[in-house]
Amino acid sequence: GSGKFFVGGNWKCNGTGDSISKLVSDLNSAILESDVDVVVAPPFVYIDQVKNSLSDRIEIAAQNCWTGKGGAFTGEISVEQLKDLGCKWVVLGHSERRHIIGEDDQFIGKKAAYALSEGLGVIACIGELLEEREAGKTFDVCFQQLKAFADAVPSWDKVVIAYEPVWAIGTGKVATPEQAQEVHVAVRDWLNKNVSADVSSKTRIIYGGSVNGGNCAELAKQEDIDGFLVGGASLKGPEFATIINSVT
Ligand code: G3H
Repeated sequence: GSGKFFVGGNWKCNGTGDSISKLVSDLNSAILESDVDVVVAPPFVYIDQVKNSLSDRIEIAAQNCWTGKGGAFTGEISVEQLKDLGCKWVVLGHSERRHIIGEDDQFIGKKAAYALSEGLGVIACIGELLEEREAGKTFDVCFQQLKAFADAVPSWDKVVIAYEPVWAIGTGKVATPEQAQEVHVAVRDWLNKNVSADVSSKTRIIYGGSVNGGNCAELAKQEDIDGFLVGGASLKGPEFATIINSVT
């Protein structure tokens, strides 16, 4: 693997003040391996609450951001505002934003470039649909999404790549360790050929899609799986801790 194990919890559009306060208190009392970077991404409206109650051991990510400085962009949230609240990361290119909201590669690349230029880390998500996998296009799709990030970002120092096959997200159908490893290796090769050997060896490539307390250990054993991006199971403190502690 590359660098420190990295586990992100993407809470998506879930929770209330009460449920989030319970989740934060479970995370605060969990025993977490020290050699793991841990990040959670609450809904925007709860970031402040989480920042003020969660242990500093865990960093905070936003689930989205605007493409540039704030201003007359109704409904958007700027990178400057996220930094003001104490966010260190932003999740970009998530499949739900690509396929449900309709964000395209160029728009996502713009956000990534701006977030990095302002010092936020970027969790850059890529992944194929089931029909694309079945058509043998997994690598093509992942490389195209990766290229859009590569074309936009000035530096990879604060980028973590999340491979999330869309068919595995929220479906309970986790990729097998071999399926995930195969794509992670391909992504690393792509970085080697198209960016640099240094970026290829240093960039963390994490897996997302139905990761849970029961399947994380086998996945974590794979050479090129450097962590996880967890959705559903990150809403349960003890299970999220199990996933964090699956570091090998
Ligand atoms: O960002 C997280 C992923 O979309 C995975 O979600 O663990 O609920 O399948 P999931």
